Amino acid sequence: MALSVKKVTGAAPGPSIRRKDPIMTTSTIPNRFAGATVVVTGAGSGIGKATATRLLAEGARVIASDLDAERLDALSVEVGDAPLTTVVGDVSDDAVIAQIVEVGEGRITGLVNNAGIMDAFVPTAEIDDALWERVLRINVTAPMKLMRAVLPAMVEAGHGRIVNVASEASIRAGASGTPYATSKHAVVGLTKSTALFYGPAGVRVNAVAPGAVATNIEAPFRSELGAQRLGPIMQATVPAPATAEQLAASITWLLSEDSANVNGALLMSDGGWSTI
Ligand SMILES: NC(=O)c1ccc[n+]([C@@H]2O[C@H](COP(=O)([O-])OP(=O)(O)OC[C@H]3O[C@@H](n4cnc5c(N)ncnc54)[C@H](O)[C@@H]3O)[C@@H](O)[C@H]2O)c1
Repeated sequence: MALSVKKVTGAAPGPSIRRKDPIMTTSTIPNRFAGATVVVTGAGSGIGKATATRLLAEGARVIASDLDAERLDALSVEVGDAPLTTVVGDVSDDAVIAQIVEVGEGRITGLVNNAGIMDAFVPTAEIDDALWERVLRINVTAPMKLMRAVLPAMVEAGHGRIVNVASEASIRAGASGTPYATSKHAVVGLTKSTALFYGPAGVRVNAVAPGAVATNIEAPFRSELGAQRLGPIMQATVPAPATAEQLAASITWLLSEDSANVNGALLMSDGGWSTI
């Protein structure tokens, strides 16, 4: 298993994240996360990268994990001398989780369980064991293990903020195949149950459910039945894809003190898809 850790320390970058469309604009809030140390998994691309970048811009120290070393290297270059630590490896691997906790030096205040994979839109009778095992391991078991690893220090500190990245597939069957829908429904149970047990200790645990987001996630249709049943549903209902920055805005809100009274929630950040 390839595992490497790289530390880059210094001041957080200044500029805000801006988009042209005023309705779609997200902007940073300087120093919102000063003093925070936040782990972001799958931080090399898409939603994780946008979240890590925004957290750094808002004053957090970020521990960014990803399978892909080149993507993490690119993130390091993009954020300059911001306080970023990268951990390369499979986040479902116990050694990688131990490494993340180690570089956190007992000061991890936040966790974004973002790394996840799709399932090629396969229905139940077409699931092979390897796909099922992989989707459940990365999408459900790894977030559980990471929460299990960081919770003791958060409970001791009386403060912790965890956001699990769920999906539109957490609430409906028409957004993915069966393994992914199962895994993302499970993320909601994992979130609520953890929130119930650790809320009184000062740890808030919430989930965000993206709809379609323009990222690098691989989502090929490998099933005729999958394409037949899901194609028309998705064509008729899915709103225009969101940006990763829009998801980062929802995730950082859940990590921030503005969501102080929110615990165990599933925040639909899907452009209204869930209203259909
Ligand atoms: N993009 C969408 O439309 C969409 C919709 C709903 C939910 N989501 C969820 O959002 C999360 C992020 O997805 P994204 O769209 O940004 O995808 P992405 O593929 O652009 O980025 C995910 C990153 O996670 C990394 N990764 C994958 N497996 C890993 C592992 N085992 N260990 C460490 N890193 C790993 C990848 O290398 C990649 O850099 C996922 O949980 C996904 O299920 C995405």
